[in-house]
Amino acid sequence: MKKRIISIVMALSLLLAVMAPVASAGASRKDTVLQFRQDGKFKIMMISDTQDTDKADQRMIHFIEASLDQEKPDLVVFTGDNIAGRWVGSTAEKVRTAIDKIIQPLVQRDIPFAVVFGNHDGESRVTTKEDQMAMFMAYGNCLAIDEGEALDGVGTYNLPILSSDGSRVAFNIYMMDSNDYDANGNYDGVHQNQIDWYEQTSNTLKAENGGNPVPSLLFQHIPVPQIYSLLKQVPFGVMGSVRGSGRNAAKWYVMDESKAEGVVKEGPCPSYDDHGQYDSWLRQGDIAGAFFGHDHTNNMVGKTDEGITLGYNAGCSFHLYGDGLNRSMRMFVIDENDAWNYDTYLVKYGDIMPDDGGCLLVDLIAVRTIDNALLYGYQLIKQLFEGITGSPETEPSTAVSGTEPEGTPDTGPADSSATAQAGTGSTEPSDTPATERSELFNGSAENPATGVSLAIPVLALVSTSAAVAFVLTRKKAK
Ligand SMILES: [Fe+2]
Repeated sequence: MKKRIISIVMALSLLLAVMAPVASAGASRKDTVLQFRQDGKFKIMMISDTQDTDKADQRMIHFIEASLDQEKPDLVVFTGDNIAGRWVGSTAEKVRTAIDKIIQPLVQRDIPFAVVFGNHDGESRVTTKEDQMAMFMAYGNCLAIDEGEALDGVGTYNLPILSSDGSRVAFNIYMMDSNDYDANGNYDGVHQNQIDWYEQTSNTLKAENGGNPVPSLLFQHIPVPQIYSLLKQVPFGVMGSVRGSGRNAAKWYVMDESKAEGVVKEGPCPSYDDHGQYDSWLRQGDIAGAFFGHDHTNNMVGKTDEGITLGYNAGCSFHLYGDGLNRSMRMFVIDENDAWNYDTYLVKYGDIMPDDGGCLLVDLIAVRTIDNALLYGYQLIKQLFEGITGSPETEPSTAVSGTEPEGTPDTGPADSSATAQAGTGSTEPSDTPATERSELFNGSAENPATGVSLAIPVLALVSTSAAVAFVLTRKKAK
């Protein structure tokens, strides 16, 4: 017992030391101490873009519950767009109910959680982000902090995790508010005073750790612009490509499989301006990975040329667009003796929930922009034409490897596995369960006859999805 008390006192002392920058801002914190288990492991579940109203879709709630029961995480992090933000009939009490819907599964299982905000949380007309943070912090298992006026945004803080014996901070979590929109209406990012705070906290942790950087995971909603370094530019018309956004608009990309794995089904939407956050990670040397939400149908993870791991978790909401059965929770399993080399994997809706039959439509809605719908329509007509005329099918892989424009952001070597996969018209890794949509289009790509038989329903569905996509695009419902 005496040893345990000493351990707790030591742990709290360490926490106070490393939390000084935030604590001095006047924020309060629950007494929960995050600590590696006795087996030296710590498990985190990342949940992204829950984005629903007070009448939350039960499929999402059941997905959260089943994931928690299967994985039994030590900590859950919500990475923004936690509620729909603005909806007809919304009131402060309904916002509280919307929050309660996603937090109750954690309360019932006594699992601590942390939260950051996304760009849509701040769009609520009946609550501010401060109001919402107060609602989250009312739960006894909430570890989130409102740092007050000290920093821009609401909810930028860190969560040190003690070693299993309580003697040291073995790992650290940064939770960053990536803000909403800049003055021009583009996606914002982390501001300079938040970067300064991060560097100060990083230095404090390093000093407490004998001068060595403490391995850390960083979570925020909006990606940094360097997410595009995990993609490579391709000409228009390459199956599986996505249209870039922001400063990368009017260009088309596929995931660079020599650097990343997973899927990219929409053009990443990072902060429009580079605020210097990525460079600060390089300077500090403590970011073992930075993970984002925001782009609901992307779940890739990869390493940049500078050695920074960047990754996504796909959206969880059924209230808005998503990737059907590929809606996911991203898991992290960290070993305190090898913390830099943590394991990360996805728990997908389709893996643990029975298919309710509604996901085919949801998958099609995921083809949610006019240009993506046009791309798929173009590919389909091209393949049908080739099937009817019997002309040789042009391998999309040729376009990928042979006609890549000069001066594109990617200068890496062509990857044979990427080329092979591009030839199938899919960016799905081989071990990823294919969605109905990708199976549909893969089928027509590999076998023109299959494409002919599917032509009428597919064209009808593409037309429908284009119409739906147009509406969704106008709403900017990301
Ligand atoms: Fe979102």
